[in-house]
Amino acid sequence: MPLDLTALYNNVSRVIPAPEWELFLPDIEAIQRLKRERNAVVLAHNYQTPEIFHGVADIVGDSLLLAREAMHVEADVIVLAGVHFMAETAKLLNPSKTVLTPDMRAGCSLADSITPADVRLLRQRYPGVPIVTYVNTSAAVKAESDICCTSGNAKKIVESLGVPEVIMLPDEYLAQNIAAETKVKIIAWAGHCEVHERFTPQEIIALREAHPGIVVLAHPECPPEVVAQADFAGSTAAMSDYVGREQPARVVLITECSMSDNVAVNHPRTEFVRPCNLCPHMKRITLRNIRECLETLQTEVLIDPQLQAPARLAVERMLAVR
Ligand code: 13P
Ligand code: SF4
Repeated sequence: MPLDLTALYNNVSRVIPAPEWELFLPDIEAIQRLKRERNAVVLAHNYQTPEIFHGVADIVGDSLLLAREAMHVEADVIVLAGVHFMAETAKLLNPSKTVLTPDMRAGCSLADSITPADVRLLRQRYPGVPIVTYVNTSAAVKAESDICCTSGNAKKIVESLGVPEVIMLPDEYLAQNIAAETKVKIIAWAGHCEVHERFTPQEIIALREAHPGIVVLAHPECPPEVVAQADFAGSTAAMSDYVGREQPARVVLITECSMSDNVAVNHPRTEFVRPCNLCPHMKRITLRNIRECLETLQTEVLIDPQLQAPARLAVERMLAVR
């Protein structure tokens, strides 16, 4: 079905100025054509820029939704508009597909904060304590873990194990934020998200003074002192759902910058106040490199065959918890 580009622009005109949209159009049209020719779908994380998120993505969401959806993709090719661990997760769950990343360098400070050898040492140090690993990790780290979690299901996963104590890695702040909500004792690692660790409680106090009545939503990768100042903390999907459900007059999303743009498109009556931090890794993905990746079918994300089964098992155990 031909794409109605006028309707598409009307949808995003709140967040993309017309002259910029004109520059994006050739790539958007080419990507739409290439998706048909290659039998490809584009999965995009909530932190992708609005021209990607609203212009070319077939499936959008948080890490949990992207993992669940990747498993059911029937197209031959998956382009993962997000960071490397998201593409690896898609490949783990749907190994017969060609999974492409538009930029191999799109990493994550959390994934870089821990190695498989670190996980093995933790296991030796805390024998018998289950290891819950955030999906923001390499396949090699997942392969050493018992079960994965995302920010959208971390509490549920920790409590599903029915044990008094778990190791939760590598995000120290996510672990501390979940520890505040559960009786399960949590042993944390010292990894941080370079985007969310920069927010401060003082910033939120100043925002509330400047914008009385503002609703503050924070991602649980933020430090606990920041989450304590927020009205609600949840995954990127949970923040988006909150705006849809509560329709606040004025809101601030304490997270990556593109989130507000993407959510604002669907909620014209809500005012988005926008102090935010950019994720340099997410921002490596552009319309141009998505187009090139579909033209060349490069770069393919592959999993070491030895890691495939154990890493997949950790992700599948997570998906089985409802
Ligand atoms: P979500 O799973 O909440 O989308 O978070 C992923 C992420 O990388 C946040 O920084
Ligand atoms: Fe990683 Fe933080 Fe970027 Fe998310 S926002 S991909 S956790 S560096």
